[in-house]
Amino acid sequence: MNKFNQAQEIVKKFHQEHLLKFYDNLEEDKKELLLNQILETDFELLKELYEKRNIVSDSKDKITPIAYTDKSKLSKDELEKYKKNGEEVIKNNKYAVVTMAGGQGTRLGHDGPKGTFMLNIDPPKSLFEIFCEKLNKIKNEYGVIIPWYLMTSKENNNDTIKFFEENNYFDYPKEAIKFFIQGEIPMIDTKGKVILTAEGLIKQAANGHGGIFEAMFNNDIVEDIKNRGIEWIFIGPVDNPIVQMTDEVMIGYAVNKNAAAIGKSIVKANPGEKVGVFCKRNGKPSVVEYTEITKEMAEETDKNGELVFGESHINCNLFNINAIEKIGAEKLPYHTAFKKATYMDENGKIIEPKEPNCYKFETFIFDSFEKLDSMEILRGKREEEFAPVKNKEGVDSPETAVSLYKAYYNLK
Ligand code: UD1
Repeated sequence: MNKFNQAQEIVKKFHQEHLLKFYDNLEEDKKELLLNQILETDFELLKELYEKRNIVSDSKDKITPIAYTDKSKLSKDELEKYKKNGEEVIKNNKYAVVTMAGGQGTRLGHDGPKGTFMLNIDPPKSLFEIFCEKLNKIKNEYGVIIPWYLMTSKENNNDTIKFFEENNYFDYPKEAIKFFIQGEIPMIDTKGKVILTAEGLIKQAANGHGGIFEAMFNNDIVEDIKNRGIEWIFIGPVDNPIVQMTDEVMIGYAVNKNAAAIGKSIVKANPGEKVGVFCKRNGKPSVVEYTEITKEMAEETDKNGELVFGESHINCNLFNINAIEKIGAEKLPYHTAFKKATYMDENGKIIEPKEPNCYKFETFIFDSFEKLDSMEILRGKREEEFAPVKNKEGVDSPETAVSLYKAYYNLK
């Protein structure tokens, strides 16, 4: 059976016949692309996701607090020991950094990869330049070039690489930087139909930062890490200019605790702050998202007046290579978001919505924690860890991030 016939059978089976309706209008190479898209799509999964689209989370989950260690309460001896152990890991070339840079900065109103966003400091610097400075500092101090893996998306990969090329990789050794593209999953409309782009191809969206593990395997990043003998991998965000990409204490702590993974936390600023918090879910390490937590849980305090669910997840997590392999072998669940998407309808009309009209499916990195039997949580100080650039204005905006960045580096 040729590819077209195969595709035809699939779309018929899943009632997605509209996908081939405009096939004849496509250029030859695009025809091939559409057929491949159809053959590669997991329609069974999409059907299941559509059917479960309104189930937010399993309310039967038992959410309990998780134990943490406060870095600022470690003794001087402990701090010194962990720092020394962490330094050894770096100096022995057993450490790598992965940055999740697949996000597009829509909320920020930035046109382009989020890492290219310029912070208004003197002189102005992009987030990517700031990260290169951090890695160059380690290079100069320890004489070690830390491999840096950047996860991009299909949408921003070329622009990201171009930005690095144009800026001469901000003087970080080019060979140490590897870009890899995260996976995608088709979007569907409110009737469960996979939507088409204006061109007539399946409209796909990045599969969320949980896609990092699958993407690290599919792009031979895990293999590269193992070939280099790397044992500890920090996975961090692109949207935080003071992210500690090489926290020696955290690394040394992981080594001493023989941890599968460590999540860096900071104290939640207030019960309503839009951050996920570390917890135990049915006894396993997890994160309860701000969209998921009840008001009572968010406000609950202990006898010291601290929030019971107050260890904010800031997307700064350190994994042992064995943990990455374990997680990579399993599937992460998809979460559903209702978004605005321009598409071509069954009559060939381009629909440009003013309101959300389609479902987008994403996996979250913190759903991987449940695959591990345990993980450590290390509490850091907010002013040393977290200056998010998320929104155009107000909280977590360039303005707040710049003032936090300046305070951290003692700049005027
Ligand atoms: C996230 C966390 C939240 C945490 C907060 C801290 C989720 C769902 N929630 O919220 O628990 O407290 O950050 O800042 O993640 N990214 C990709 N590919 C994707 C999607 C995102 O690489 O497909 C990257 C982004 O570029 C960014 C990071 O993942 O570096 C965080 O993603 P974002 O969607 O901004 O998370 P938030 O909703 O802000």
